[in-house]
Amino acid sequence: MRIIRTRDYKQMSRDAANIISAQVILKPNSVLGLATGSSPIGAYEQLIRWYQKGDLNFSRVRTVNLDEYVGLGFDNHESYKRFMYDNLFSQINIDPANINIPNGCTSDPEEECRRYDGVLRTLGGIDLQLLGLGVNGHIGFNEPADIFAKGTHVVHLSESTIEANKRFFAKAEDVPRSAVTMGIFDIIQADRVLMVASGAGKAQAVKDAFFGPITPRVPASILQFHKDFTLVADEEALSLV
Ligand code: F6R
Repeated sequence: MRIIRTRDYKQMSRDAANIISAQVILKPNSVLGLATGSSPIGAYEQLIRWYQKGDLNFSRVRTVNLDEYVGLGFDNHESYKRFMYDNLFSQINIDPANINIPNGCTSDPEEECRRYDGVLRTLGGIDLQLLGLGVNGHIGFNEPADIFAKGTHVVHLSESTIEANKRFFAKAEDVPRSAVTMGIFDIIQADRVLMVASGAGKAQAVKDAFFGPITPRVPASILQFHKDFTLVADEEALSLV
């Protein structure tokens, strides 16, 4: 495990974008595992700037997103599909055929999980997985549980996640109660894992996940085992360690 300590969110975002862009330069057809939420937005903005300057080319990059709310589709601004187009995909030269996001608008979420695991298999694995960290230690939407979930599955969101995510919705009742997420096994199979964490609100989760025991009660703690895991976190997120 490698920890890169940054001054603030801006520097965290720049460092993370540097790592992602190195991946794309070294392997132009990389499979990038991508996350939504506020943590990666700054990194996406930086990648867009470098693309606009002509320094990055995403034409052969393939992507897989971690998760999607059940019931939300592209026409809903809070869907993760919409988030990805608004914050990254619509502003770079990625081929839409190379974008993979779980379909939240399916009548059969279990079948969608099987389909998505098939997509992951067909891609042949993830080269670099970008992650944020939930305040309860979740990664993707793998919530604290008794076991580490393996493949893509349907989750019922915990109260703390609904509370944390309600800021994106008009009111807490609008936050979907379930989601489709890649599993822990899918995530840790990635060749490299990069997590971004910022702000005092993440300090306890960072401490529990990376300076405590490895347990499914803190899903991110499994990353302590990963052979190439980098945490880029700002001073506030590292304030308890
Ligand atoms: C998003 C995701 C989540 C977030 C986490 C942190 O695709 O999988 O695990 O990374 O909830 O969210 P933010 O960055 O908004 O604090």
